[in-house]
Amino acid sequence: MTATTPKQEENPLAEGLALRRTPDPCTLVIFGASGDLTHKKIMPALYALAVRQLLPPRFAIVGVARTEGDDDSFRQDMEGAVKQHARDPFRQDAWDALASQLHYVAMDFADTGGEDKLHGELARLDEEHELGGNSVFYLAVPPPAFPMIVEALGKRRDERGWTRVVVEKPFGHDLASAKELTALLLEYFREDEIFRIDHYLGKETVQNMLALRFANGIFEPIWNRQFVDHVQITVAESIGIEARAGYYEHAGAIRDIFQNHLLQLLALTAMEPPIDFMSDAVHNEKVKVLRALHTPAPRSVVRGQYGRGFVEGEEVVAYREEAGVAPDSMTETFVAAKLFVDNWRWADTPFYVRMGKRLARQETTIAIEFKRAPHPPFEEAAAEGVRPNVLVVHVQPDEGVSLAIGAKVPGQGMTIRTVHMDFLYGGAFRTGMPEAYERLILDVMLGDSTLFTRTDEVEEQWKLVDAIIAGWQRDRPAFPNYPSGTWGPPSADDLLRRDGRSWRRP
Ligand code: BG6
Repeated sequence: MTATTPKQEENPLAEGLALRRTPDPCTLVIFGASGDLTHKKIMPALYALAVRQLLPPRFAIVGVARTEGDDDSFRQDMEGAVKQHARDPFRQDAWDALASQLHYVAMDFADTGGEDKLHGELARLDEEHELGGNSVFYLAVPPPAFPMIVEALGKRRDERGWTRVVVEKPFGHDLASAKELTALLLEYFREDEIFRIDHYLGKETVQNMLALRFANGIFEPIWNRQFVDHVQITVAESIGIEARAGYYEHAGAIRDIFQNHLLQLLALTAMEPPIDFMSDAVHNEKVKVLRALHTPAPRSVVRGQYGRGFVEGEEVVAYREEAGVAPDSMTETFVAAKLFVDNWRWADTPFYVRMGKRLARQETTIAIEFKRAPHPPFEEAAAEGVRPNVLVVHVQPDEGVSLAIGAKVPGQGMTIRTVHMDFLYGGAFRTGMPEAYERLILDVMLGDSTLFTRTDEVEEQWKLVDAIIAGWQRDRPAFPNYPSGTWGPPSADDLLRRDGRSWRRP
């Protein structure tokens, strides 16, 4: 059962998040409570939801980790995390209310009795706060810990209320391991109880791609191979791998970002209009795009690894010099590719994609470059200024949408120059941008899986990635092949140059 609360409707801070429904009372159990994700994303998101009164009326949060501790130490630790990472200014009253709902269980599933301790605490909280047996289990732990936790939860699920499991990425390491993990989850949970996170789907600007395409009549008729010359998707980061060598050495850019965030951006850009915004309708359309992607030839995929360089004025080390990275590591930190979606809407229209760490600046954009005007009726000098129209969705930073159009330079004669019509989120809406995790955590509690990835989507994503990686076994690029602070290896430029095109420069 869900309800509308008048309190929320009056709350201007809550604009933009789900206002019409309040989640049922429930317990949110976070496995990996002492980890980075809990500190940087999950707890700050819960605080933002608390400030906006969007959390359930009766609610308990249980942090679970191996680290020794109790409710008090957990509350203190989380207070620090919220002060450091929340988007809202710290408010003692809001924090105190949330902190009173925080509990901690120090346990290891491998220890005998650990499980009983957790279930005992969950039963106690459920009774005390009348939570109806509803639980969200959030697996913010490294993948090797998944099976033990899933089994322990599945065997003792509370049948009185609903149960939902949130699984962080990476969802598997390849197609085979993703299938195994799904099989394990499906032994105990239904597909609609499994929420696979791809946090890019929680970003406002990513959802805005759907609004842009399907809330406006003018784009859809030209959103196809007849009018679009090509599409460029960039997920550029200026940061390096931070302290994540243990994970990144095995993942690389292709598993870290290409397999999930990047392919999701592509699917949202290329999909057909769904018949409604119910979870299955959206997933069905995305999965058709992923199925239609054909494996690129090896020369259509470029790998890179960053060397030393300067990023935003600071000298930084090469990937191979990062702590925990092998000095001869062949892990890629950059991938660019030319992809094709083989269907009636997009056949022969290249989708150029690139992503990487330690690039010149942080920028995530989806750029739709339209075909040139068929015949500019100007003199040669004026016609030189006529460029193709480009629609750019700025996912982050400077969130918004801009359209490049040709305009006449004021004065005598006819000179054409490109100008931009810009929509900036910051200027158009009075509310701040919610963090992706706020939206996603709320959606899990509401049982809405539209912004999560379904089994078949993940599997299609892995099929493509496995095929690309298989093509990499034959050659060994000379890494490092791009200095930090640049836009990747020269071969990424060649990929477009061969087609008479070039990457957009921010
Ligand atoms: C994560 C990747 O999924 O996304 C990180 O594991 C990456 O390597 C991060 O830095 C980027 O997310 P955002 O929201 O900062 O663009």
